[in-house]
Amino acid sequence: MDQILEQAIQALRQSRQIAVLTGAGVSKESGIPTFRDAIDGLWSRYDPTQLATPQAFRANPKLVWDFYEYRRQLMRPAQPNPGHVALAGLQQRYPTLRIITQNVDNLHERAGSTDVIRLHGSIAHNKCFFNCQGDPTPVDISQIEWDRDSGPPPCPYCGRWVRPAVVWFGEMLPRPMLLRALDLVTNCDLLLVVGTSGMVSPSSEMPAEAKARGALVIEINPDTSMISHLADLRLSAPSGVALPQLLNALTA
Ligand code: OAD
Repeated sequence: MDQILEQAIQALRQSRQIAVLTGAGVSKESGIPTFRDAIDGLWSRYDPTQLATPQAFRANPKLVWDFYEYRRQLMRPAQPNPGHVALAGLQQRYPTLRIITQNVDNLHERAGSTDVIRLHGSIAHNKCFFNCQGDPTPVDISQIEWDRDSGPPPCPYCGRWVRPAVVWFGEMLPRPMLLRALDLVTNCDLLLVVGTSGMVSPSSEMPAEAKARGALVIEINPDTSMISHLADLRLSAPSGVALPQLLNALTA
């Protein structure tokens, strides 16, 4: 590991344009289960991939809304962990560094990272399910009074359902975000892939895009993933350990 860590530090030192792709693993040490962790308690009998879809919401808006309320409760007390903080520190050192995240927990921003490309949106935000005022139609539910036991609040514009402003399975990513992410991964000389299983496209294709254009791919993940075969270097460690090690070595 030390030799690989040293090689990663050298690679960062020589890099001129770093892109970072993160997944749920970077928030694991903040106490947020990864998407494929077993969800405990009430929700354990549900498969999240069966809940996070427009079809599931149409069929049972209350169930899906309550699932996201459960995830919001999980995320509310979560704090950025040393991995998030180290990435913000790396961006201080490399101002053109940008983070592309699949996470919806806003922990990168709360750690101080800026201009984060949130491929799957933010669980803290909501919108009209029908985007009645245009795509998207953001809705601030703190201004709405409604019977929370009845399920999602009514859209203040059209009276129909409000939904979490996150990307669901089967939905397209917001095009501006996707184009921005692809531009970053195809123009970087180093792609740091942190805490993702590499199971969900299009983010799972980004390491190959970067590598095809000559970027060095470094993966930080305690387990192997669907992109490990592409990694030039693999730091097999929790991101809350490996990222601070990288930053400390660079700033020593
Ligand atoms: P996954 O749950 O699929 O993968 C999490 C990855 O994090 C795994 O490879 C773990 O080995 C790794 N991991 C666990 N603990 C870690 C730690 N302490 N440090 C670093 N890595 C760690 O989550 P994602 O890959 O993010 O999409 O899933 C991608 C998407 O799948 C999610 O955004 C979601 C889901 O479908 C949507 O909701 C649209």
